[in-house]
Amino acid sequence: MLVAGGAGFIGANFARYMLAKYPDYRIVVYDKLTYAGNLDNLQDLDEKYADKYVFVKGDICNGEQVNDTIQQYEIDAIVNFAAETHVDRSLFNPDVFVQNNVFGTHKLLEAAKLFGNIRFHQVSTDEVYGEVLRGSFHEDDPLETRSPYSASKGAADLLASSYYFSFGLPVTITRGSNNIGPYQYPEKVVPLFITNALENQPLPIYGDGKYARDYQHVMDHCSGIDLVLHCGQLGEIYNVGGGNEVEALNLAKLILKKLNKPYSLIRFVEDRIGQDRRYSLNCAKIKNLGWVPQYTFETAIDDTIHWYINNEWWWRKIKSGEYLEYYEKQYRERLDKAIETVFSPSQGDEL
Ligand code: NAD
Ligand code: DAU
Repeated sequence: MLVAGGAGFIGANFARYMLAKYPDYRIVVYDKLTYAGNLDNLQDLDEKYADKYVFVKGDICNGEQVNDTIQQYEIDAIVNFAAETHVDRSLFNPDVFVQNNVFGTHKLLEAAKLFGNIRFHQVSTDEVYGEVLRGSFHEDDPLETRSPYSASKGAADLLASSYYFSFGLPVTITRGSNNIGPYQYPEKVVPLFITNALENQPLPIYGDGKYARDYQHVMDHCSGIDLVLHCGQLGEIYNVGGGNEVEALNLAKLILKKLNKPYSLIRFVEDRIGQDRRYSLNCAKIKNLGWVPQYTFETAIDDTIHWYINNEWWWRKIKSGEYLEYYEKQYRERLDKAIETVFSPSQGDEL
């Protein structure tokens, strides 16, 4: 199995999950190692699964290299996690999102078609539906993408489906909600808030902090992808969400409370442009396949917080590199303009 983008957050967790669950599978992690790709995410696999796991540094946009890798390792399934994934970055530089997420997915699909019946699974996102103010999205709802990131993911979904309908490629797609857990790059809100709180740095809340996201533990997302890969109906799309809707301000308060840090670290900053107010997924379809998430929101956030407390070596290395430049660009002016808000002691239990 080729796990494209497997040196990133979810892909690395997925590779580890599959190697542990299926002793006779062989996994090739294929990853370009962008700023978000990190061999530290896979460091235990080399030794533990020496004969079953291999890492190949490669770009999904490079068709020749993709083909050579498929041939060399006799790949019979591709799970595509490879993408540019941060919405804020897609507002600075949409170009790499179109290149990696659309053109790259196209190249992988072409390779799967060229070699015959390679099983293809595309990892997508709830953001392709756009915002939903009431109720939850079903798989057959229209795509109403609103950021360059979500537009590029929506385009990749359409391409993947088109290869099923036009060429009979055995394709499935999952659309996941926000993941949390080990190895998430600290640009995303949960690891950003946890690591900033641990360093007594401000927690930047976009706009009024009432933007709701549905958080799930990365391992539940991985088990959903595994189930669809093995039991999903070809050509179909499956939503995978935790059903844990949390607004950003409440998330910040919860994290601060759990880390015993003051609410005075909270800063309301200039909003993300065009931000979607709320995401929510109806997951009846994957539950009918037998998907049962193992984590509640409480156990998922506790596991995540403990992982960041116990793995400073991992995130401190990241926070001293390219990240600093990104952080300055994204937050310095916003934080300089922000005013400290005073919360009464009774506030903070809204979850
Ligand atoms: P991530 O940013 O942590 O990792 C992305 C990985 O893709 C990195 O290792 C990067 O090096 C690699 N990559 C990027 N472009 C590449 C290319 N051209 N060739 C090869 N590798 C390349 O992302 P993540 O959070 O692990 O997300 C993985 C996938 O899941 C993405 O497709 C994302 O859209 C989707 N998704 C993420 C979430 C979430 O909450 N994080 C939720 C739903 C869906
Ligand atoms: O919904 C799934 C998507 O979740 C994935 O497809 C994306 O790859 C992933 O990045 C994530 O996108 P979001 O934009 O929802 O995640 P992010 O962690 O960037 O933001 C979550 C919420 O927190 C959002 O409402 C914006 C808010 N936020 C975020 C940051 C980084 C803040 O208030 N302050 C911040 O500094």
